[in-house]
Amino acid sequence: MPIAPPPALPEEDLLFRLLRQLDLAPDAPQRATAEALGISLGRLNAQLRAVSEAGLVRVTDRQSADRRQRVGYALTSRGATEKARLTDRFLARKLAEYDALHAELTGTGSGLISLKTRTQLMQNHLAPIQELYVSPDSAQKLKREAADLISWDLTQRQTCDLELLMNGGFSPLKGFMVQEDYESVVETMRLADGALWPMPITLDVSEEFAAKIEPGQDIALRDAEGVILAILSLSDKYVPNKAREAEKVYGADDIAHPAVNYLHNVAGPVYLGGAITGIQTPMHYDFRARRDTPNELRAYFRKLGWRRIVAFQTRNPLHRAHQELTFRAAREAQANLLIHPVVGMTKPGDVDHFTRVRCYEAVLDKYPSATTTMSLLNLAMRMAGPREAVWHGLIRKNHGCTHFIVGRDHAGPGKNSAGQDFYGPYDAQTLFKEHEAEIGLEMVDFKHMVYVQEKAQYYPANEVPEGDTVLDISGTELRRRLREGIEIPEWFSFPEVVQELRRTSPARSKQGFTVFFTGLSGSGKSTIANAMMVKLMEMGGRPVTLLDGDVVRKHLSSELGFSKEHRDINIRRIGYVASEITKNGGIAICAPIAPYTATRRAVREMIEAFGAFIEVHVATSLEECEKRDRKGLYKLAREGKIKEFTGISDPYEEPTHAELVVDTEGMDVDYCAQQVLLKLESMGLIAA
Ligand code: PPS
Repeated sequence: MPIAPPPALPEEDLLFRLLRQLDLAPDAPQRATAEALGISLGRLNAQLRAVSEAGLVRVTDRQSADRRQRVGYALTSRGATEKARLTDRFLARKLAEYDALHAELTGTGSGLISLKTRTQLMQNHLAPIQELYVSPDSAQKLKREAADLISWDLTQRQTCDLELLMNGGFSPLKGFMVQEDYESVVETMRLADGALWPMPITLDVSEEFAAKIEPGQDIALRDAEGVILAILSLSDKYVPNKAREAEKVYGADDIAHPAVNYLHNVAGPVYLGGAITGIQTPMHYDFRARRDTPNELRAYFRKLGWRRIVAFQTRNPLHRAHQELTFRAAREAQANLLIHPVVGMTKPGDVDHFTRVRCYEAVLDKYPSATTTMSLLNLAMRMAGPREAVWHGLIRKNHGCTHFIVGRDHAGPGKNSAGQDFYGPYDAQTLFKEHEAEIGLEMVDFKHMVYVQEKAQYYPANEVPEGDTVLDISGTELRRRLREGIEIPEWFSFPEVVQELRRTSPARSKQGFTVFFTGLSGSGKSTIANAMMVKLMEMGGRPVTLLDGDVVRKHLSSELGFSKEHRDINIRRIGYVASEITKNGGIAICAPIAPYTATRRAVREMIEAFGAFIEVHVATSLEECEKRDRKGLYKLAREGKIKEFTGISDPYEEPTHAELVVDTEGMDVDYCAQQVLLKLESMGLIAA
């Protein structure tokens, strides 16, 4: 008997409606599904056979007492991806119909006015945007099945990226980038299909994980608690050229740039690409009422009748200059204002988002509530200046905005290793302007705002009346004033904001901090650290904990050896404990060898989120350490009886940016400890 050819897939419209119906009601009886689609049972059966043979739908058991109802259906992740693709086309079709109707009703189709009038563009900004989530019923099914899939535990940054992929914030992206898109974005700021997209959105994993999976496979993506958030239909795995990515995307392969540091020292070596099927949104327990998806914001704007919306992106507390700038921008654009602060990941060392949101809430009262709103954006910033500005614009367009404020040094990463700025102060404005039409958002550009004393008001730096006195407090100066408890004038900020900032960052002499000694074995780290501990305890006021290398290896890291991998785990553990101590207002003194620069930097970043980090390089030379050989280990290392011994058969990367270098040769311990104390005093960490 001839084999029957595989059934043909239904035509596009029916396929879309079928997949949508099965997503919404996967367990509905066939009769109900057929009715919903307006087709006969026989036709439905044929279509169901076709979609299951094409791998878009799976037949499942329904545990029903009624035999006829025992069969249910579930979208596979491929089916969900196909549905997402068809939804896009459906939305595009509906928008075109809307455009045509609008043209007919307003007469703009007559050729008198271009079809793309501004009003229409604005309206499209508020139409629903496509999300990558399946329906709750399908999600339940997929989740159960995904429990058997190989899974990847997402990092914090990947979780942020995934959330914006799933809720349409990163539209038109449908998943993590495949190599073709990645290469094209790196080189040209465009996806392979030519659409403008300046930032690689990639899923980086370890080599070990990459070795276990192959394209074609589905991978469950889990959050830090192990909850399955999405399925990745893997279509590509590749090894990126990170140096090139750094050069092209961030402007330099220099790890002084936070994103370049992340790229080389945090991100895994292999990237995975493929479509995402969204199962559930990452959970947030903080400020829930203030978080909105693009569709929620669009609906809110529609409800309030807002048509022109100018977004203000920020990762800092709002002071008076920001308020003035946003007022001016709203006036200039004749638009409503969306204050849209980033609460995902910002620049290491920034004020934490809890404090910032409390500050924003305090300032919000000073805006007219009828025209201004605030919403929190769970974005992981890259600090990529110009490219980042374009990216921020696209994200805001997806959130229903029509205008976007780009100020001085937008998303600036600070100085490079040579002490120069990575980007020019207005590079972001230039790049944004070049692509404004394609971004689909108008830029409202601003110069740096400064306070003019004589006028008692803020002006853009280039509009200051001649001869008038300009007052300004830089970010660094503000941090110094907060640290040292110095007055912050009312012309600069609002008393409520200053009070909030002072509450979270008390004067430095009351904050926790970490002193991190690093140096070769036998350099004298432990001895100085012990002396320091006693001196600080004598002063009192804050609890002191000593995390000595040997002690840690006994109590925290007894299973670890001295390979690079194990040393890194050991140092990160110390960093974690020290960061907790610092966060809670204590003093942590650490004294491991910590031979690797990148790991020391990672620890610094962990701690600087909560308090000061003082790296002290105990720079006793190898010859001197070997001469002392207090534990007899150097002799054994020379004889080859101890392998991977630091300085002999293993590297020690000397710090280049330590807060203090002490030389123990010819100096007694007390003198060295005293030098450290003086340093702490000069930094305001211990009261004079
Ligand atoms: S690391 O690299 O920071 O994880 O090392 P650390 O935890 O500070 O441990 C160093 C102490 O372990 C002893 N020891 C070795 N050191 C270096 N290399 C090898 N292979 C090694 N094997 C044992 C040594 O006593 C170190 O103590 P200190 O106090 O530094 O002399």
